[in-house]
Amino acid sequence: MSILVTGGAGYIGSHTVVELLNRNEDIVIVDNFVNSKPAVLEKIKKITGKDFKFYEIDVLNEEALNKVFQENNIEAVIHFAGLKAVGESVEKPIEYYHNNITGTLILLKLMKKYNCKKIVFSSSATVYGNPERVPLTEDCKTGGTTNPYGTTKLFIEQILKDVYVADNEFSISLLRYFNPIGAHESGLIGEDPNDIPNNLMPYITGVASGKFEILSVFGNDYPTKDGTGVRDYIHVVDLAKGHLKALDKIRKETGVQIYNLGTGNGYSVLDLVKTFEKVNNVEVKYKIVGRRAGDIAECYADPSKAKKELGWACEKGIEEMCKDSWNFIISNKGESKD
Ligand code: NAD
Ligand code: UD1
Repeated sequence: MSILVTGGAGYIGSHTVVELLNRNEDIVIVDNFVNSKPAVLEKIKKITGKDFKFYEIDVLNEEALNKVFQENNIEAVIHFAGLKAVGESVEKPIEYYHNNITGTLILLKLMKKYNCKKIVFSSSATVYGNPERVPLTEDCKTGGTTNPYGTTKLFIEQILKDVYVADNEFSISLLRYFNPIGAHESGLIGEDPNDIPNNLMPYITGVASGKFEILSVFGNDYPTKDGTGVRDYIHVVDLAKGHLKALDKIRKETGVQIYNLGTGNGYSVLDLVKTFEKVNNVEVKYKIVGRRAGDIAECYADPSKAKKELGWACEKGIEEMCKDSWNFIISNKGESKD
């Protein structure tokens, strides 16, 4: 039996695939490379010394995805495939709703057809909107998302809950990620955005490497320790390992389980900049500018439910996250983007 990993060539997917292969799971990856590169697959093989099946297809292509289910005995799905750029989702809402929601519906239809009823879904802390309190627990109110990307996560969570109501044999794990950063210690895989990044860490590494001149810090007048926004940064390898624990759980029990995957620690923008500079001995020039529309002051997890029920907790701290993010950049310097 195999685990189908959609979006397995992407940032979080590739790190999760490495952990799955290290545990000798049999996997099948599906990706259309809309936001990743084929070279990642070779790098995964180099890290793990293991091979796997891969299909270059769009999850929106029902016929092609049907073939994947037909040709493989899929036990469970880890569903990463989705578009994730917040700003772009505001510009292209139809593409975002179609790719993320229709893609999930097609996947679910085929899962039912082939009697595959176990799924781990990549959700996000964005479903909490403006947090009613921090640290966030899974029972905090959701909704009030400020962009189509966030709304796709909220809607897909609801769709999956409804799927379970209709068929109690389903086992569904909704993983709400906080802010993944860092990279695999080999320096072979990591986050590699093509365009100007929206997120903080890719921008920090871009300034450190000279690709961008200066980091704009969006606001220093928030009610936080230094006035800059506070987030729960999580090492992508810790996040990847959370998926294996979630998989273990859905193999044992039916139902819908929701988990925050974060460290429980909040760090400000300036904390991250200073730590990055210190551990990597590089300068990150920054300037304070106005707040970014739609931003919130603080967002960090209470990860105790995942610890108690999944036996999962983060092992890597902020210094390791900053070191590994930079190691990925310097290890791949000069490498073609294609
Ligand atoms: P990513 O863009 O690196 O990976 C997504 C992968 O899915 C890419 O390889 C892309 O080519 C593929 N893909 C997208 N649409 C597809 C389609 N229709 N058919 C086949 N493949 C498709 O993003 P990531 O950071 O690895 O995120 C993975 C998942 O986690 C996404 O669903 C994302 O929304 C979610 N998430 C990410 C973050 C984050 O900060 N990175 C936070 C919360 C949730
Ligand atoms: C973003 C997404 C959110 C997603 C989350 C995790 C937005 C509005 N939201 O949120 O949907 O779930 O990533 O992937 O994009 N910052 C700067 N300068 C920069 C970039 C960021 O100061 O150039 C600050 C931000 O204001 C924020 C912090 O850094 O305080 C983190 O920003 P970012 O990495 O974009 O993550 P989120 O805001 O948490």
